[in-house]
Amino acid sequence: MTPVPTDVMPRSLSAHPPAQVENTGEIDIAEAEDFVRQHHTEHPDLGPVEARLAEVHAEIAATGTYRHTTAELTFGARVAWRNSSRCIGRLYWRSLKVRDQREVSAPADVAKECVEHLRVATNKGKIRPVITVFAPAEPGTHAPQIDNEQIIRYAAYRGTDGGVLGDARNLALTELALKRGWKPPATRGPFDVLPLMVTCKGHEPALVEIAADDVLEVSLSHPDFPWLGTLGVKWHAVPAISNMRLRIGGIDYPSAPFNGWYMGTEIGARNLADSDRYDLLPYLAKRMGLDMSSEATLWRDRALVELNRAVLHSFAEAGVTITDHHTESQRFLTHLEREEAAGRSCPADWSWIVPPVSGGLTPVYHRYYDTDELLPNFFPASKPSGCPVAH
Ligand code: ARG
Repeated sequence: MTPVPTDVMPRSLSAHPPAQVENTGEIDIAEAEDFVRQHHTEHPDLGPVEARLAEVHAEIAATGTYRHTTAELTFGARVAWRNSSRCIGRLYWRSLKVRDQREVSAPADVAKECVEHLRVATNKGKIRPVITVFAPAEPGTHAPQIDNEQIIRYAAYRGTDGGVLGDARNLALTELALKRGWKPPATRGPFDVLPLMVTCKGHEPALVEIAADDVLEVSLSHPDFPWLGTLGVKWHAVPAISNMRLRIGGIDYPSAPFNGWYMGTEIGARNLADSDRYDLLPYLAKRMGLDMSSEATLWRDRALVELNRAVLHSFAEAGVTITDHHTESQRFLTHLEREEAAGRSCPADWSWIVPPVSGGLTPVYHRYYDTDELLPNFFPASKPSGCPVAH
């Protein structure tokens, strides 16, 4: 890696906090230029930057936008990952496989390609980090938007008693699916996969079911508690965020689903444990026979550790890629050292990087991080149209 001297640090890296970058339909020429320069700085083999800059300027003057080369799209998507300050798993940012689907904008085709994304990423359990980039937002055309927060989301149904069956995080998304005509399974369960919902102005919205064969799931079992394996608890293998906007060199890609592999705590300490998600800890503690008469017995913590053991154990048994928070914390610090050695800042959000269990046992806890926001990057999507509650 060629170090980036700070005196030629692209303007957008300091002067344009990305959180304020909105898609106005007009290209920010300075941001486009900064990106092209950054690409050439980090890839000196590309030759002098002037020729490409002249092309980009001419294209913007003629059409109001420009089209990334395949190399720019690949570099931009990888750097957007590298700049994701909430992600602990960035060591492998260079390995991101970029699927160029910029010609695709019809909702049904986007949904179909999301399923293909899942197949490529799942790879029979040997998870590959993948991003699929769909049509960009361009003047005069409309870009597709995926309503699902992730390609795989489990439905949530509110019962008459006010309780929730399924993943309560997805109550609004489930409501939206039902409103758009989704027929849930005859027998509703806690792990019903929601259909993909994609919209694009000027097109019919799409609602596409994902076939069970395309969703690799891992049933939970525990190395010491056989009863845990009989509860029917499971999770999906691929976390693929599908509602964030990818921004590269002034161009917005509102649909660009991407995935890595799971760190166990995401499932064991959040999805299955949070009291507003699957809330499994009180049940597990009871089954473990723990003394739950007071918080001071640490029954929650003891159940939490066993749930996290179950997640790591089950994924390993099933041959599905996963990582634990100790290993991943060390890898993150390796990444940070490499970035610093390359002369780059590595922005990180402490509150997201520190794992939700045993924080102080991991080395990422015991330091502070740069907090400047860099471009390219991923940004939260606006809430889906017709979605009653933000999610
Ligand atoms: N935390 C989210 C989940 O539990 C996934 C976020 C992305 N995670 C990842 N390992 N790439 O589904």
